Amino acid sequence: MGTQPFTFRIYRFDPAQDDEPFYRSYPLDVPEGMTVLEALLHIQAEQDGSLAFRYACRGAVCGSCAMMINGREALACRTQVHGLMQEPRTVYRGVERQEGEADTGDVSTITVEPLRNLEVIKDLVVDMEPFFEKLAAVEPWLQPQEPEPENERLVEPQAWSEAEPYTNCILCACCHSVCPVEEEDPAYLGPAALAQHYRFLADVRDDAEEQRLTLVGGEHGVEACDFVWNCVEICPKGVPPSKGIAKTRARLTRRRRAERE
Ligand code: FES
Repeated sequence: MGTQPFTFRIYRFDPAQDDEPFYRSYPLDVPEGMTVLEALLHIQAEQDGSLAFRYACRGAVCGSCAMMINGREALACRTQVHGLMQEPRTVYRGVERQEGEADTGDVSTITVEPLRNLEVIKDLVVDMEPFFEKLAAVEPWLQPQEPEPENERLVEPQAWSEAEPYTNCILCACCHSVCPVEEEDPAYLGPAALAQHYRFLADVRDDAEEQRLTLVGGEHGVEACDFVWNCVEICPKGVPPSKGIAKTRARLTRRRRAERE
């Protein structure tokens, strides 16, 4: 395919300037293999130094480059521009296309927007504070009762397999953005925090099950999940939050039943 011309239609917003959100289009010739993050870096360096976005590792490890690309949560550093030509085009932030802007129905137009369900700080940068507060609320650390061993706390591979998929989370917040319950109920703990909660609930070295179940047993915890499974579908690392939530809910039900008997 070689190099092809694309238009990047990028969400711009600076709340500090009391601006209204708008979209600005930037043309860019994109060689095969270029990622959306690389395209944004080119646009920032060559066309508009005021464009704000986050990134760090460039290798799908840190989670900081998560954004909406053609209406879908994705890591910009792992998304190749040419591969987007077959993707559906949707705009979620809801700002009207302005006169003279590129038509989003054109497959060579890539719409880039910030994640949903988080406040925009500037352009594609969102405030991750509420996301991390929810994570901290589920106490995502090991709480064993056994005395500290001389070396590490070992776990058999078979016993580890239940918790292991949840350790792949890179805290990108794609699941937080795609979750319809987060949108309706900002107090909902959310798929990322609840997935990390289950990671420790399922860890055979942890001894805080009672306390952990209490943490997520309220109205904004596991029972608020509608099991839409968007979070499982969107996770760039294959973490299955809904699955963990369902298993936590089952444990909670068993505990409540045992308390009644
Ligand atoms: S820059 Fe780290 S995940 Fe994309």
